[in-house]
Amino acid sequence: MTEESIRLEVARYRPGQDEEPVLVPYEVPLRPDWAVLDGLAYVKDRLDGTLSFRWSCRMGICGSCGMTVNGEPRLTCGTFLTEYGTGPVRVEPLKGFPVIRDLVVDIEDFLAKLSSVRPWLVREGEEPPLTTEYAQTPAQLDAYKQYSMCVNCMLCYSACPVYVLDPDFLGPAAIALAQRYNLDSRDMDDRFDVLGHEDAVWGCTFVGECTNACPKHVDPAEAIQRYKLTAALRSVLPWSRR
Ligand code: SF4
Ligand code: FES
Repeated sequence: MTEESIRLEVARYRPGQDEEPVLVPYEVPLRPDWAVLDGLAYVKDRLDGTLSFRWSCRMGICGSCGMTVNGEPRLTCGTFLTEYGTGPVRVEPLKGFPVIRDLVVDIEDFLAKLSSVRPWLVREGEEPPLTTEYAQTPAQLDAYKQYSMCVNCMLCYSACPVYVLDPDFLGPAAIALAQRYNLDSRDMDDRFDVLGHEDAVWGCTFVGECTNACPKHVDPAEAIQRYKLTAALRSVLPWSRR
């Protein structure tokens, strides 16, 4: 019996060779336990070794395999080929980011945005690295735990219509990361200087697609709306925090 196959239509863009991305079809085995990432690995191993894409853990932890699959931002290691029936399955780079080659996008701007929110514990009168141990109750951990589950996969940016139109928008994951620290009982900052302006929380129009796209249930849309309340209070009561 011959093995069933499914067609992947993979966006190829080779700088210096292609004017613009083109979709190239590849037939790959349709196996029940194969994710889209397995199909891409098959292409690279058996059909065309020049195909470029990022991946590492193959288990939804590293966040590096995000791509656009049939128009939606997805982690390709957690998206099974069988979801797409008999196919074809279109695989493109994450929307909203410059393409370096094939399915690989430039993440520099995203990393700079994450760094800009001071993603570490800020303590008045103490300089990092902190050496003191600060106890925390389970309830205090619960206050920010959800926001600490982010794997930096950038799917929320790719799903966000504001970010796609305005690359200066600080964006969902960076704001959720800021809230991960703002809501930590050990932290003394509120990051208002970074979060409280129009390219940050006030740029969000609450479409909510970031939360729909997030594979780790971080709920960045909620993080943004919660901080809007903080920022509004901060404007009328400058001494208030969080
Ligand atoms: S908030 Fe969710 S979608 Fe956005 S980068 Fe983090 S894990 Fe990915
Ligand atoms: S390969 Fe690590 S999240 Fe998919």
